[in-house]
Amino acid sequence: MSEPVFPEITESVIAAMKDAPSPRVREAMTILIRHLHEALREMKLTEAEWSAAIDFLTRTGQMCDDVRQEFILLSDTLGVSMLVDAINHDASRGVTSSTVFGPFYAGLQPELSAGASILKREEPGEETWISGRVLDEGGKPIAGALVEIWQTAPNGLYDVQDPAQPKGHLRASFRTDGEGAYSFRTILPVSYPIPDDGPVGQMLVALGRHPNRPAHIHFMISAPGLRRLVTHLFVAGDQWLESDAVFGVKPSLIVHPTRDGDRLAIRYDFKLAME
Ligand code: BEZ
Ligand code: FE
Repeated sequence: MSEPVFPEITESVIAAMKDAPSPRVREAMTILIRHLHEALREMKLTEAEWSAAIDFLTRTGQMCDDVRQEFILLSDTLGVSMLVDAINHDASRGVTSSTVFGPFYAGLQPELSAGASILKREEPGEETWISGRVLDEGGKPIAGALVEIWQTAPNGLYDVQDPAQPKGHLRASFRTDGEGAYSFRTILPVSYPIPDDGPVGQMLVALGRHPNRPAHIHFMISAPGLRRLVTHLFVAGDQWLESDAVFGVKPSLIVHPTRDGDRLAIRYDFKLAME
């Protein structure tokens, strides 16, 4: 094996951080610098490539505003968000798997009563009844849990991306009843592309990747004494389940809607970990 190029620079940068006030910052940056320098040596980065990388990161920052977070999109599409999620949420105890939060949560919505529709206007999608229970990891039903939901319209856009949609369309909050049950009416979600008109979209093209996410509904479930669960339910049979642009699919989150008269029905129980 050949000698590493300029090992002194790596050691000098690490030594320069010896007085960092936070031991955690020092630890994290030491690991990062070692791996970053090693990666650059291994790929023998050219100066033109270094310039292109700086330009890419600059444009990624410039793309961000109140509603567009291109850095989170970058993290999502590189599998970083799902890795951070996996490091921090151990689903081995039989609790419901978590998945990526995504950039389209729009804050706490008004609470609707059990069984209400989350639509604020008519849509052409197939009517779907979603119900189930919120349980703790021992299987005990949790009364009064907050169940927050958001999904796109059939055009593949969230209300916050589409000025033509009524504010709060296809998003809502519910409280579980005394048996831990929740239920609401919606339309079957559709697959959609993540925003790909910026640097992350250009990166996906350069990597030979598509921007699509399989059809899903977002859930965030909170209850005192339990770990907040951020997850989705994915619809079985979707063509993008095997290649989600943000790597968010877990088999235990795929549901099979059943026919219930002239509508579809999905039943799913969520199990939350103790805090
Ligand atoms: C979403 O599902 O809303 C989403 C997740 C990650 C990136 C973009 C969108
Ligand atoms: Fe989504």
